[in-house]
Amino acid sequence: MRLNLRQFAILPTLGLLVLMGTAAPKAQYGRKSGAPEWLERERHFALRAIEDHLDRDDVTPGAVIASPSRENPDYYFHWVRDAGLVMDPIVTLYGGAESANRRAHYLGRIRNFLDFSLSNQRARSLTGLGEPKFHVDGRPFDGPWGRPQNDGPALRAIAFARFAEQLLQEGQLNWVRRHLYDGRLPSASVIKTDLEYISHEWRAPSFDLWEEVLGDHFYTRMVQRKALLLGARLAERLQDPGASAWYRSQARLIEREMEKFWDPRRGYVIATVNRRGGLDYKHSELDVSVLLGALHGGMGDGFFDLSDARVQRTVDAIVNKFASLYPINERGRGIPGVAIGRYPEDRYGGSDFHGGNPWVLATLAVAEAYYFRAKTDAGYLAKADSFVARVMYHSHADGSLSEQMHRETGFMHSAEDLTWNYGAILTAAAARDRAVAAARRFHRRR
Ligand code: NOJ
Ligand code: NOJ
Repeated sequence: MRLNLRQFAILPTLGLLVLMGTAAPKAQYGRKSGAPEWLERERHFALRAIEDHLDRDDVTPGAVIASPSRENPDYYFHWVRDAGLVMDPIVTLYGGAESANRRAHYLGRIRNFLDFSLSNQRARSLTGLGEPKFHVDGRPFDGPWGRPQNDGPALRAIAFARFAEQLLQEGQLNWVRRHLYDGRLPSASVIKTDLEYISHEWRAPSFDLWEEVLGDHFYTRMVQRKALLLGARLAERLQDPGASAWYRSQARLIEREMEKFWDPRRGYVIATVNRRGGLDYKHSELDVSVLLGALHGGMGDGFFDLSDARVQRTVDAIVNKFASLYPINERGRGIPGVAIGRYPEDRYGGSDFHGGNPWVLATLAVAEAYYFRAKTDAGYLAKADSFVARVMYHSHADGSLSEQMHRETGFMHSAEDLTWNYGAILTAAAARDRAVAAARRFHRRR
């Protein structure tokens, strides 16, 4: 177990005992700095960590381990969802790379991910394209699991569609046609294969992103819609007009169905409708997955994105709920921000079901939502920073971030070095950049 001295403020005696019994903490990391400085350093740490996870000798190139943790819990797998969420910011880095070297480097990463994704799509798995996770050598995981999970193909399609748009800007039309979107049926290319699956199967119930509930989920619908709309735009540019119209029409049908997720009585967007199986104790239906749906599936068009009042009310309801839920959120403790969990009734502790904890990626999602608001309301900048400060407070001294923060001790908990966390650091830091740039523009105008 690695140590974080800051946390001893919470449990001084336990802290001392732990300190006596374990190895020395890693180098001091960002201890004395504020959240903005920490986030700036952490984004470099995050990128190195992601690279490190992609560079393992025992992993097929292109596979993205969810965490180096091999037991309690075993996360040494390629999850289609986590991989899409981590490779999407790599596509952004590719597009903005400052040197030819960096550009070629990211290109290599994305091409490996492409090869691995094609092998996932072609594998004989239990649920075909809805299969949620693969061994790091590319074999489908065939053990009992919540499957299918239909957000995965959508997240994969979003990352590759954004990559395709970037390549088209560079004039690489033929490459895109050959490797990403071939316009054929059946398709042999990664994006069109996923779009065909999404556009024909989106109504089918699937397991949610937390792999627990079978039903229709806000998160899954949001990313399916985004994949279809990006796909429709791409199909149009690649002279596949029939497909373009079809993908767009299915996206519009999804929009109509999605109105069901707004619950006027509760005053927030709920996570799941038409539950058909899986966990049955999520009574509030309040879930950070709704915010993640707005973050990963929002298109900037006002439809359940961060500017939508329904999503904003949901974010505020989430923050209020968690503020009074976990011991580490008690006011008297004086720790900045609020540690946010997946949903209030959560029981998953990584290797047991004895009680849920706040999650790093959930807390960073709230920071990102508030950075968005800070673009038009400067008061939110400090508020957003306080959520980053909260993650910093519980982080390991060297900057590494586990999946969870223990609800009582604040210690990093469950899967160490969760790859998705580092993706979330990259997107939160980019959101902060946008907030600061907007504030500058505002001041210049006055
Ligand atoms: C492992 C999943 O990853 C986690 O989200 C879930 O809570 C448990 N399995 C129980 O289904
Ligand atoms: C459990 C989370 O609930 C799920 O969303 C994630 O895909 C896996 N862990 C792997 O990180």
